[in-house]
This record gives sequence, C-alpha cells and structure tokens, in this order.
Amino acid sequence: MGNVTIIGAQWGDEGKGKVVDWLASRADIVVRFQGGHNAGHTLVVGNQTYKLSLLPSGLVRGKMGVIGNGVVIDPDALLAEIGRLQAQGLVISPETLRIADNAPLILPLHAALDRAREAARGVHKIGTTGRGIGPAYEDKVARRAIRVCDLAEPETLSSKLDELLLHHNTLLAGLGAATFEKQALLDALLALAPQLLPYAEPVWERLAAARASGAKILFEGAQAVMLDVDHGTYPFVTSSNTVAGTAASGAGLGPDAVGRVLGIAKAYCTRVGSGPFPTELHDETGTLLGERGHEFGTVTGRKRRCGWFDAALVRQAVKVGGIQGLALTKLDVLDGMKELKIGVGYLIKGEKFRHLPAGMAAQAAALPIYETLEGWSGSTRGARSWAALPAQAIKYVKRIEELVEAPVTLLSTSPERDDTILMQDPFAA
Ligand code: IMP
Repeated sequence: MGNVTIIGAQWGDEGKGKVVDWLASRADIVVRFQGGHNAGHTLVVGNQTYKLSLLPSGLVRGKMGVIGNGVVIDPDALLAEIGRLQAQGLVISPETLRIADNAPLILPLHAALDRAREAARGVHKIGTTGRGIGPAYEDKVARRAIRVCDLAEPETLSSKLDELLLHHNTLLAGLGAATFEKQALLDALLALAPQLLPYAEPVWERLAAARASGAKILFEGAQAVMLDVDHGTYPFVTSSNTVAGTAASGAGLGPDAVGRVLGIAKAYCTRVGSGPFPTELHDETGTLLGERGHEFGTVTGRKRRCGWFDAALVRQAVKVGGIQGLALTKLDVLDGMKELKIGVGYLIKGEKFRHLPAGMAAQAAALPIYETLEGWSGSTRGARSWAALPAQAIKYVKRIEELVEAPVTLLSTSPERDDTILMQDPFAA
C-alpha cells in the first residue's frame, strides 16, 4: 500500500474535506503541505460539524497530523483553531500534531499588507482571503520570513523583525495603512513561543521514519490546481503551488513519496474571488446551483460564483497536477435538471482552444464551447452503489471521464461520509 495525495482540480471548495476525512480514516498520518488558513474544510461526522482551516483533517479521526514546511502558519489562527476543536471534544496535543520547525509564520503585518494592497487595487482586486497568505510567501522567497524555529531564538527574532519592519512599514506607509511597532510584535511572538514550540520538530525526519516503517501517509492539499501560482489563472491565484508535486517539497520528502494522486472536482464548477471563469452562469441556473449546493465560502462566507462543469479546465488540471483518478462530488446538486452542459473547450477571438491559454486577456475573453447532455429525473442523493444511480447520471459521469482523460474513482453523493461510491481504493492502487 502506498501513500495518497489529494488536490483540488478546479478553483477550490470541491468538497475535499469529506474525501480527505474518508481517506484519513484509512491512513496513519495526514500531512498539510501548502497554503495556510485561507483553506477551509468542513467535515460532517455524525451530528458534529468540524470546520478546519490550518489543521490536517486526520486529527478529527484521531490520526497524527503534520503541518509541513510548505505551509504558512498564522500562530494566532492556529492556536485559536486548536482551542475551538478541543472545545468540540477533539484531542489535539504535541502527541497528535507536529509542525515543521522550518515553516514560515504569518504575522499581523502580512494580513494588513494583504488587505491594504487589495484595497489599493480597487476593481482589479484579486479577491484574496485577506489572511496575509501572499505577503507571507513573498517574505519566504525573499529570505526574510520569521520561521517557527526562530521562536526559540529571541535574538534571531529581534534582528529578523528589524529587517521585516523596514520592508513592511515602508510599504504600509506608502499605501496609507497603519504601521507596526517592533516591541509589540516581539513581545507577542515571545509570548506565543512556549505554546507553539512543543509542537515543532524537523517533520521530515518523522515522515521519513514513517515511510520506512510502511506507514500510510495522506497528503492533504488546499486550494486547487487552477489557483496554483504557476499553473492557475494567474494573477487570480493563491501564492503557493497546489499541484501534487508540492506534497513532497512541502513536507521534506522525495518525489516518490507522493503516491497515488486523487483530484477532487465538483460535478459542476464554482469559484470565489475574482478572475476568469468561462463556464460561469449569471442566470437562474447559476443561482439554483448556488442554492442547492450551499455555495458559500467556509473561510470568508463569500457567495461562490457557479457554473457548468468545465472538462477542458479539469483536463488541464489532470495533466499539470499529476491527477491519476478523480473524486467527483456533489452530483446530487444536479438532480432533476432537464439538461446539463459540459465545457469542452474555448473560443477566443474566433479561434478554438482545447485548453485555457496562459495570457490574461485571452483567459478573460474565453467563451466556453459546450456539449449538452440530457439530465435525469431520479435522485442520486445518498446513492452508495453505481447501480443505484439513474442511467443518465452514469452517462454524465462516463462522459466526464472521457473528456478529462482520467477515471472517476470515487463519487460522493451527499455530505455524509458513507454516501460514497468507491470504484478504486487509492491506497490499494
Ligand atoms: P489568497 O490565497 O488569500 O491569497 O487568495 C487568492 C485567491 O485564492 C482568491 O481568489 C481566493 O478566493 C482564493 N482562495 C484561497 N484559498 C481558497 C480556498 O480554500 N478555496 C477557494 N478559494 C481560495
């Protein structure tokens, strides 16, 4: 049995939480490897609903959770989330949660800069979550980030803050936003240190040992391929690589650790924030999808934009993301619709494309080329076998498989964990 990596195949919010939870129950360790508390995973277990942002979902199932070096960590958000889940009865301690000592921190100045820049962009805003994700990754690449391990070295912390503030206060002042004082930041970090450091360690060593002993590792991606900083709809993307390859570098393991790659896609498509969305629906069908699918962001509560399934986009995500099998979620939202459309390509200034080109203007101008399929009158809600699905629903799924050039290996038919049809066990593959 190998490892499994789960990534989003559209623009995020594909229902990863449920699938990760389902697979976490069969893994030994669950690892987050990129992103930060911009992610939002909702897990429904019995009559309890858990909302996770930064913590690996496996903790809900009592599995060891690891936050890798590829994640950007807001210590206040992390401690608040730990407190919230502990209040719901979960055991989260340094025995069950380990954090990479070389992971960069998100400080309040990152969120302040994120918001100030978004405000300055006006109508051209990216629609970020305002949590400081972009500025924190910028600092990492610029070699001035404060990392978890620095909390154990007050002098390092002090000199790094000088460099950080020189950069950030200059920018914040230029944008007309409030600046930060060093002493207040230093005091806050030193006060956080004893709470965070017990979780910190070189997680790569633990993961290497786990691999050597045959443990099953589940790598839990956040956001999705179309929000990848290289391969997504740039610049309307997040600031990390969300493709499967990142699972290795974001945890401190070699590429062979990634294992089987499962992509998650909704049976239709949604997006939050700005940016191109060729199959977006601005009519009553879009409203219906949003209402039936309860399409509001877990993190920001923003209304999600809704549209038809874009097979050209998901095919692209399959190729660049390394997706070997697709988990299709929320098929039941399409129940009872007379006809369904699937995007199969784009028309851009009179020219046909099978993929979304990289150019910003080309992406904005992309018109979807549709294929129309008959809907189904029966219900797929809660179906637990292929045989329980209406014939037209099976046709819809089969057509998606052909178009995206990847098998649908898992089908989710309601938020309940057991309402799942498994075609192929990714751990056994
Ligand atoms: P950032 O990650 O906060 O910088 O936001 C950049 C873009 O990614 C925005 O369009 C966000 O709405 C989007 N985004 C970030 N995290 C998520 C997520 O977990 N689900 C869906 N969209 C996300």
